[in-house]
Amino acid sequence: MNFPLQKFKGLQTPFYYYDTELLDKTLAEIKRLTLPHFHIHYAVKACTNPKVLQHIVQAGLGADCVSGGEIKVCLDAGFPADKIVFAGVGKSDWEIELALNAGIFSFNVESIPELEVINHLAHDHNKVAKVSFRINPDVGAHTHSNITTGLAENKFGIAMNDMEKVIRLSEQMSNVECIGLHFHIGSQILEMDDFVALAHRINELQDNLHRKGITLSHINVGGGLGVDYDNPDLNPIPNFKDYFATFEQHLQLRDGQQLHFELGRSIVAQCGSLISKVLYVKEGAAKKFVILDAGMTDLIRPALYDAFHHIDNLSNQDGKDRYDVVGPICESSDVFARDYQMPITKRGDFIAIRSAGAYGEIMASQYNCRNLPLGYTTEDF
Ligand code: LLP
Repeated sequence: MNFPLQKFKGLQTPFYYYDTELLDKTLAEIKRLTLPHFHIHYAVKACTNPKVLQHIVQAGLGADCVSGGEIKVCLDAGFPADKIVFAGVGKSDWEIELALNAGIFSFNVESIPELEVINHLAHDHNKVAKVSFRINPDVGAHTHSNITTGLAENKFGIAMNDMEKVIRLSEQMSNVECIGLHFHIGSQILEMDDFVALAHRINELQDNLHRKGITLSHINVGGGLGVDYDNPDLNPIPNFKDYFATFEQHLQLRDGQQLHFELGRSIVAQCGSLISKVLYVKEGAAKKFVILDAGMTDLIRPALYDAFHHIDNLSNQDGKDRYDVVGPICESSDVFARDYQMPITKRGDFIAIRSAGAYGEIMASQYNCRNLPLGYTTEDF
């Protein structure tokens, strides 16, 4: 990735930089592989930077939202309401009402009490809510335990065995229309076998429901495709080809059934970097520390998930040494990388923490009364 380093020099750090050329290439690759019955909803939770959203809207994608706030952001950004799906185990009444009034495509419903509330509120507003049921497929994904969602022990979704009962219940409700089934097994998944396992579970469930005379029009397999955090320059665009092909090959859709995806990380992670300046290089008793002006408040993934992000020194590529790269926050988990080999680094150097476009800026906080990081894109320079 090319960084406009000279242009960075006058700016207050830290900030996010989004390479919108890479984003457009990523979106073009998705479009190239999108079959007529595919519908891609961008999982907005990954990044709601307005300039990034503009590119995604322009590419014609729909949106996957998990809160009323996200629905508002998407409507403001120009996502068509009828391409918005709304998931989440705990939807507040105002959020349901907002979605009903906007006329979203589907609520991804996660429990019977939620279904009853949606039916009730839809009745009050004289609407019929389209709903899909989120099913907990009890499929493990080989990823961090904080971001697996499809196991029986997780809070998400409705058990497979309860599906017929729940669909029958919805049929008796006057203000909901059941249109589909929704799944999501986790995030940062790189092994296609996990998606194969999901496809097989969906086939099994569809066979069972079919025997009982139930076929729904929409299957939503969620998101979860991972990115190469180790080699962002080698693999800037995730392997969408294998991902889509896996579902094409293993998922048995019924006639006319539409297939929905909710991709977040794979669309935006690689195009974003957190740009920071080195405040100090400190020689401790046992190791050297590179102390950045960015901290866990700007990018929490390493502290929260032990996540690895590749780090580049944009100002100097010569020599090498080993450093702990840390932030200024008063928490010992405020560490971006330990014993990390990088060029000789000194005060004032610009640092890029890579693959930070997804779950970076959006998860930033103001802990320690810090400013939220700003976000710039290629077009700003
Ligand atoms: N659909 C549902 C229902 C989800 O819960 C998620 C992510 C997605 C789609 C999008 O998944 P993706 O394509 O981005 O993997 N903050 C964590 C990731 C949390 C993911 C939550 N759900 C991280 O920084 O790794």
